[in-house]
Amino acid sequence: MEAAFRPVEEKDLVEINRIVNDFEVARYLTLIPPVSLEETRQHFAENKKLGNPWYTILVDGKIAGSFILRRQKGNNSHVAVFGINIDKPYWGHGVGAQALAYAEEEGRKIGVKKLELEVVQENERAVSLYEKDGFTIEGCKRKHTFVDEDYKDTLIMGKWIWSE
Ligand SMILES: CC(C)(COP(=O)(O)OP(=O)(O)OC[C@H]1O[C@@H](n2cnc3c(N)ncnc32)[C@H](O)[C@@H]1OP(=O)(O)O)[C@@H](O)C(=O)NCCC(=O)NCCS
Repeated sequence: MEAAFRPVEEKDLVEINRIVNDFEVARYLTLIPPVSLEETRQHFAENKKLGNPWYTILVDGKIAGSFILRRQKGNNSHVAVFGINIDKPYWGHGVGAQALAYAEEEGRKIGVKKLELEVVQENERAVSLYEKDGFTIEGCKRKHTFVDEDYKDTLIMGKWIWSE
């Protein structure tokens, strides 16, 4: 599947909101459905104000998900925290890998030198995607995320994306 990317537009928010309200998509995310459209709109406004790049992922012209780069501050301003969610029908077709490659390319353009993320250890699809892309495990938050009535370990992963 070939993916395309563009900055999130207001008209994308209904579909983006639908995707994060899918229990399987949201399973390992911090947010818990139901997420109102108003919350998604606020998220859009806040990230716009903060200058955090947020991209819509398109496959065959349809919205397949989105990813965000949350820029850090001060002595960490070279770091961006990566977040992604893709609609279930598009899983396992390389869309996540293409989104990561694009995130790295766009991140470098605005001076991002390192990507960081947190991922629930049992989210094998995500961990595998990040490892294949060159992320390494930098730490583990024990019993950090509540999933399926249990407290699960969450990995901190990072990748240096800058070369002089
Ligand atoms: C995690 C997510 C972004 C991955 O995106 P994706 O488009 O499915 O990823 P890709 O197809 O590019 O790569 C998935 C890789 O996972 C691996 N994989 C596929 N199915 C798998 C499975 N059932 N179990 C373990 N690993 C699996 C493969 O290594 C695959 O790479 P390959 O096809 O090149 O061999 C996507 O599934 C998603 O949005 N999930 C819901 C939200 C989420 O969990 N976000 C991440 C939070 S940190």
